[in-house]
Amino acid sequence: MNHAHNLQFLSAWLRNPRQAGALLPSGSRLAQAMAEQVDPGRGLVVELGVGTGAITRALIERGVTPEQLILVEKDPALFDEMERRFPGVVALRGDAAHLGQLLKRAGVGRPGTLVSSLPLLSMTRQQRLRILIQIFSSLGMGGVLVQFTYSPLSPIPDVLAAALGVSGRRVARVFSNLPPAAVWVYQVCNPRSSI
Ligand SMILES: C[S@@+](CC[C@H](N)C(=O)[O-])C[C@H]1O[C@@H](n2cnc3c(N)ncnc32)[C@H](O)[C@@H]1O
Repeated sequence: MNHAHNLQFLSAWLRNPRQAGALLPSGSRLAQAMAEQVDPGRGLVVELGVGTGAITRALIERGVTPEQLILVEKDPALFDEMERRFPGVVALRGDAAHLGQLLKRAGVGRPGTLVSSLPLLSMTRQQRLRILIQIFSSLGMGGVLVQFTYSPLSPIPDVLAAALGVSGRRVARVFSNLPPAAVWVYQVCNPRSSI
């Protein structure tokens, strides 16, 4: 546990609890379980909701190079820290609800993998849907979303997954995390031209 990171994260929670989604950064076991789902051979990796970078570090340890990594964070203070901590990585400040635009403006191609710790279940349905549409239309056919949740259920309900043309499965549970978490992987199997 890094005390400075915990304090920065706690400050983000005080500024906006729903947006921070947790009181503390993810533990190293959860970060590793997320990173294990990423194949560095699948091209660009976009991380959504970087926070203090717990998962980013695990991705780099996994072999994702700074050149293939794109980081997205909405909170301005966490964004500034993120830029400082991960020099040489494309860092985008903004809302994942505008992911397509953010990637286009940065001149970034289609990612093969999206890694998200966005607090999907703290959002309104509209916010969540907007973000999921952006995520899956940015990924395209065969693309993979890795998402963790503190819920015992899928963070993307089955009906919604079917409507979005994706299939998901839980790949890990991390009971030692505070709070305990589960890792889900979703793959685009039937891209919707209308989204
Ligand atoms: C649960 S925290 C996870 C932080 C870090 N990845 C970790 O695992 O410790 C969620 C993060 O997502 C960011 N976030 C929330 N909503 C967002 C959005 N719409 N767009 C981009 N980032 C967002 C928050 O500021 C916060 O840093």
